[in-house]
Amino acid sequence: MIETVRVELGARAYDVRVGQDLLARAGDEIAPLLRRPKVFVITETRVAALHLAVLRTGLGEIEAPALELPPGEATKDWTYLRACVDWLLDQRCERADVVVALGGGVIGDLAGFAASILRRGVRFVQVPTSLLAQVDSSVGGKTGINSSHGKNLVGAFHQPSLVLADVDVLDTMTPRDFLAGYGEVVKYGLLGDADFFAWLEENGAELAGNADLRREAVRHSVQMKADIVARDETEQGDRALLNLGHTFCHALEAATGYSNRLLHGEGVAVGCALAFDLSAKLGLCSQEAPSRVRGHLQNMGMMRDIRNIPGDLPAPEDLLDLMGQDKKVVDGRLRFVLARGLGEAFVTDAVPSEDVLDVLRASGAGKS
Ligand code: GLY
Repeated sequence: MIETVRVELGARAYDVRVGQDLLARAGDEIAPLLRRPKVFVITETRVAALHLAVLRTGLGEIEAPALELPPGEATKDWTYLRACVDWLLDQRCERADVVVALGGGVIGDLAGFAASILRRGVRFVQVPTSLLAQVDSSVGGKTGINSSHGKNLVGAFHQPSLVLADVDVLDTMTPRDFLAGYGEVVKYGLLGDADFFAWLEENGAELAGNADLRREAVRHSVQMKADIVARDETEQGDRALLNLGHTFCHALEAATGYSNRLLHGEGVAVGCALAFDLSAKLGLCSQEAPSRVRGHLQNMGMMRDIRNIPGDLPAPEDLLDLMGQDKKVVDGRLRFVLARGLGEAFVTDAVPSEDVLDVLRASGAGKS
């Protein structure tokens, strides 16, 4: 079964198709967008080995030259952006052509950004192959690369023309990568839908092995993201809610050198637990809320505290300092997404540093 979520953005509106066998029917899905039977695929070697042949078969008569880049976050940089743009120009990708991003968040962000600047903007299709990319990064049009100054600091809003989220490809993910993506799924329940969080408490453990449940989790997450993006495409307001857990997460990622010690989605899960700790400490929600968040993460076998991250970590004061580098700092004030309860998140900059330090300390910051 394939379901469709529409991202309602007027002239830039598009469908996110969620279901099984979507790679195998990619030709039927993409053909209506094409002026000629040719697409330009940007992918990475690991994903290409698993999925490129299936995609090409699914594209049928549509020609699909592919650029295979190295896997990993380091690919999201100027060197590979230039490689993408030069390759597309070498291939004579025209203004009316379509680029296909086949991969996880790194490839989606990079290929989307290359598409946004090539010939002042060509269309692109996202074919996300990780859970994180299916529920978050492939939808909403944030594209970009990292700079030596930080993650995602160079980029553009460039909406895809179509997203094909084939939940079958998630079978090839490692359990750790799958669970990291699940951190973003839990985030949706926590930020805006307590019933969805309860559904995850009930069904989360079955998702990895059950395609129907997986499709429902992806569809629901994408629907929530689509609704938020339709209200606030360029993050002037509500879209910031999608950053629940991210202020903590970005500091923890920086502290662990963006290494394998902490995957982004793992940092989001820990960050969500800390955001609920902070909310409870400030008297915004009950003490039961952070316990429920932690209980679910624990049942899923996920990290939920700073002390769960392997290796040494900086002192609370140093983590707070790293939070000060966050993109969301406005006029020098840290902005947090906090919650009045499960599913009731809001954005605030009225958070005393002492309370943040207490939460970091209680979660294990500074301990080796
Ligand atoms: N990943 C957060 C956003 O798309 O706004």
